[in-house]
Amino acid sequence: MVRAIKYIAGGIVVIAAVVLAALYLLPAEPVRFVNEGVAFANPLRIPPLATPRIENGEKIFDLAVAAGATEFVVGRPTQTLGFNGSVLGPTLRATKGDRVRIDVVNRLGETTTVHWHGMHLPPVMDGGPHQAIAPGATWQPHWTVINEAATLWYHPHTLHKTGEQVYRGLAGLFLIDDENSATLGLPAAYGVDDIPLIVQDRRFDAAGALVYDDGHDETSAPGLFDNPPGMLGDTILVNGTLGPYLDVPASLVRFRILNGSNARRYDFGFADDRAFVQIASDGGFLDHPVERTRLLLAPGERAEILVDFAKEAGPVVLMSYAVTDKVSAVTALLQRLLAPGNDENQQFRIVEFRPRPATAPSGRIPETLNAIARLDPDKAARTRLFTLEFTGRTINGKAMDHARIDEVVRRGDIELWDIRNDSIQYHPFHVHGVQFAVVSRNGQPPPPYERGWKDTVIVSPEETVGLVMRFADYADPTLPYMFHCHILEHEDMGMMGQFVVVDDVGATPRLDSPLVAAPVKHSGH
Ligand code: C2O
Ligand code: CU
Ligand code: CU
Repeated sequence: MVRAIKYIAGGIVVIAAVVLAALYLLPAEPVRFVNEGVAFANPLRIPPLATPRIENGEKIFDLAVAAGATEFVVGRPTQTLGFNGSVLGPTLRATKGDRVRIDVVNRLGETTTVHWHGMHLPPVMDGGPHQAIAPGATWQPHWTVINEAATLWYHPHTLHKTGEQVYRGLAGLFLIDDENSATLGLPAAYGVDDIPLIVQDRRFDAAGALVYDDGHDETSAPGLFDNPPGMLGDTILVNGTLGPYLDVPASLVRFRILNGSNARRYDFGFADDRAFVQIASDGGFLDHPVERTRLLLAPGERAEILVDFAKEAGPVVLMSYAVTDKVSAVTALLQRLLAPGNDENQQFRIVEFRPRPATAPSGRIPETLNAIARLDPDKAARTRLFTLEFTGRTINGKAMDHARIDEVVRRGDIELWDIRNDSIQYHPFHVHGVQFAVVSRNGQPPPPYERGWKDTVIVSPEETVGLVMRFADYADPTLPYMFHCHILEHEDMGMMGQFVVVDDVGATPRLDSPLVAAPVKHSGH
């Protein structure tokens, strides 16, 4: 009897080993060219620059959030959401030192918020889940811009609803200028040789409606076998344009690229593999330009690049290539077994550029772009560890609780945050209210293009990424900032936490938020 059991157990082990080995040896999926046949038939839409009114020296912008219909395909309207229009929003623009106020009116039938991603401002102005705007209400955040020149953006941050609201169209750019950007001599004619590119993947049904699917399988057991990749689409929109092309001057052109997707990463590069120059990351200019042929951006990340079209006759296509993380055999196997939906072995055509004779001579690329005042990691007051757990939906063992404060930071302190990814998926880690610097990836110094200010950083499986940051200006023991995964479906499922910045770390912080006073129902996840 005992012997029989031993044989059976042994047999099971052998069969399991053979199955695992076979799975591991299976050839990798070929790269899938998802939209090879896309026709670049529509002129790229450029989000309009908002014109503020000035009152008492304050720049006031109006944003009305409302539903509308957008014809991505002429004659086939799609229900969408937008700011001051049917989809996306105007580009807000301000100069460092400006006092700004944004009057946001919510004309949706549901609560929303507007978060100023990357902006350094007080938590009460941040537009996170605690600054909910009820249907019909107006919210008027105001602050003095102290960020340096950068490409920031804005989008809803509604508790458990961020993914869907962004997906349906709510996002826009917020550009900051400063003395430095004014003197660099970079291409700066908005929409002419300084081009915003908001890249988003979407899924449409046969009738042209947007399909939103958070990738969460309600029937699977929670945890181990549930690794939702987030909302992935097969159709690329740039600035809300399907199949876009753009006439560009045959000269040096600047692109401000935002990955405004919910979950998809893009490894951008040109079809002819030409080199381009990265000049800025999320929070501002790099110290020096970095020549590259590929640019990997996760949701929430931005980069500015310069591309030289001076010698061009024909069109040039911006592509996104397959993404592969370097992981161990064990993780690769687990990815195959437990996260089959995370296939990033896909390539896309993004947008076609058609160079036209330039009217002005091409500018030169400055050798020095910035003088970043680096934070000294040795001066850090403390180190915090944030573990993105194996289940891929919690941070340090906790799911988001809007009534709980997870971390208390002392104003003025330099801190080291180590973000450790124990899951089998990548996660873009984002921190509100601050720009940080990447100091290490698994103990190694970051590559040159990752040495500028960032607010969102890719953390791959098996990686620990070290960040240094300083919460310099705004203390508030009653309202938190967020840190979270910027895969919006992960955020909505609870991969988010809250921290307060305070002057007195000894006092117990007490949340004072309407969201906590009237607890919202969780959406069943
Ligand atoms: Cu772009 Cu907390 O988000
Ligand atoms: Cu943010
Ligand atoms: Cu995530």
